[in-house]
Formats: sequence, structure tokens, C-alpha cells
Amino acid sequence: MTGSRILLLGAGGMLGSRFALALADKDVVTLSRGQLEVKRPRELMNAVARTQASVIINCAADTDVEGAEANPASSFAINAILPSLLAQAAAESGAMLVHFSSTGCYGRSSDENAAPHSDFASLAPTTVHHKSKAAGETAIREAACRHLILRLGWLYGGSAAHRKNFVRARIAEARQKTELASDPYQIGSPTNVDDVVVQTLALLEARIGGTFNCVATGAVSRFDYVRHILRSAGLFPRLVPTRFQRLAPVSENEAAINDKLNLLGLNKMPTWDEGVSAYVASLLADEGHQPNVE
Ligand SMILES: NC(=O)c1ccc[n+]([C@@H]2O[C@H](COP(=O)([O-])OP(=O)(O)OC[C@H]3O[C@@H](n4cnc5c(N)ncnc54)[C@H](OP(=O)(O)O)[C@@H]3O)[C@@H](O)[C@H]2O)c1
Repeated sequence: MTGSRILLLGAGGMLGSRFALALADKDVVTLSRGQLEVKRPRELMNAVARTQASVIINCAADTDVEGAEANPASSFAINAILPSLLAQAAAESGAMLVHFSSTGCYGRSSDENAAPHSDFASLAPTTVHHKSKAAGETAIREAACRHLILRLGWLYGGSAAHRKNFVRARIAEARQKTELASDPYQIGSPTNVDDVVVQTLALLEARIGGTFNCVATGAVSRFDYVRHILRSAGLFPRLVPTRFQRLAPVSENEAAINDKLNLLGLNKMPTWDEGVSAYVASLLADEGHQPNVE
């Protein structure tokens, strides 16, 4: 990575903004949305080539899981076609493409109701969004460029002000209400974006490519995740177990285990509860509060 020029896409997003921060002293370039128009594929690939980046970090994505059911074209354009074009540009230039997929792509994989999904399980996505993410992965592997694909899940973290800050939003909600609804049926592996940045940069430094799960260690229901957030913040509203009605038929098991990173001895991800507690403590410290110690 030392001396490499990095093309960072999606730098305003929850994950991309943390890469921008972590790479602030590096040679980082970006492209405007206009230059990423997939309906002008050769122009897009030429724009990527002109950056002369040796590493492309793609955090750009359509992450609207419910909206994708009604508008699949938008989801496939950014989640499948854009990575395909980036991969072809990377194959031509020799750049390393870093891309992010989702543990939601395991969908109805064989172990749906059992343990967290291993990276060795097959993908069986159930929603338009996750089908588009799985198609993006496949396109990258088919282009045969140097690549690192990390499957993420249940991201949180970054700036308190970010519009998608789930942890901050639950704390704000609990400060205003005595009762909150949360889903006890879906399980996942809540993962801090900053831990993803550290893990990604470590893999780039070690010059390791391939497709990996990259989530915090452990699995938890959305209900217990929310309860842990609120307890860490010293908040104890009544939590009502509620099955959320969603437009997208999401899998009830989005939890994963970093089997490949573990086998390589390269897993740097903390346990999900340590990560959440530390993040809540940092949010409260920024607000001037003391975190609750139980
Ligand atoms: N969030 C999660 O829980 C989660 C779970 C699993 C996997 N992931 C994956 O992790 C990666 C990062 O997710 P995130 O949560 O950081 O996403 P995010 O906050 O929604 O950010 C997505 C970024 O993509 C940009 N973008 C969207 N449409 C674009 C387009 N047509 N052209 C160019 N840029 C476009 C957005 O720009 P604007 O800011 O201008 O809209 C934003 O900067 C994605 O690949 C996502 O699929 C996320």
C-alpha cells in the first residue's frame, strides 16, 4: 500500500467515509457520480484508468434493501454492473479491486436456521438487493482481476451524525420513549465499520486476495443487539419483541463466521458485544456523558 495511489468510490457513505479518514495521509483520488454512469461503460472504464490507481476501493452501493424490490434496475446497475466494469478496468490496468458484499447473500443457504454462515457455504440470496450483490461478486471473479471481496453484515459506526447510524438512532429513540419494538427472530453479526477498515488494510498490506466473510465475532438477534446498545448507554426502556414486516424477504440468518480469515490466522475482528460497547462508550464520551458500567 505504501506509495500506492488509491481510488476510493462511495467516500460519502457509512463505510467509505471511514476509509477516507483512515487514508487521509495517503494518495487518494475519487470520481464523481457523473463519471460512474454505467450506461457509458467505456467512458467509465477510461476514467478509472486515467486515475492510474493501483488499488480501487469500491464502497459505492445501492443499500436500499426494501427499495430494490420495487426498483431492481437501480440495484443491479450499481451493485452488479458497476463492480463488473471496475473489475474489467482493474484487469486491464493490473490494479487490485477491493469490493464489499453482504452476508445477507447466503440467504437460504443450507444452514439458514443453524449456525452463522461460513465463507465456504454457497450463496442462495432471497431478495433483489442480495441477488444484485451476489451478481457483483460473480462479475468480479469472472473478470479475473486481482481482487479482495469482503462479505459484511449489520454495519454500524462512524460519525454520530451519519444518516445511517443505527446505534445512535436507537439511543436517541430510547431517550424519547419508554417502549421500543425490536425483532427477536433475525440474527446477525453487528460489525463496526472501523474494524472493517482495519481488517481490509491488513489484508492489502499482506497482499492477500479472494472472497472472505468479514464480520465481528458472534451472532445475536436484532432484539438482543438493541438491548446491548441501550444497556451500554445506561438506558432501560421496555423492549417489545416484534416480528418486523418487510417488503424484502430477507433471511432470518445473516450471521456469519470468518472461517477463512481464522484459517489464515488473519482475523482481526473483535467480538460483536465488545465492539458495540466500545462504540457506545465513544459516542457518550463525545456527548460528554459517562458510559454505564454494569
Ligand atoms: N450497511 C450495512 O449494514 C451493510 C451490510 C452488508 C454489506 N454492506 C456493504 O458495505 C458497503 C458499504 O455500505 P454502506 O453501508 O457504507 O453504504 P452507504 O452508506 O449507503 O454508502 C453507499 C455509497 O455509495 C454511493 N452511491 C450510491 N449510489 C451511487 C451511484 N449510483 N453512483 C455512485 N455512488 C453511489 C453513495 O453516495 P451518496 O452518499 O452520494 O448517496 C454512498 O457514498 C456496500 O457495498 C454495502 O452493500 C453494508
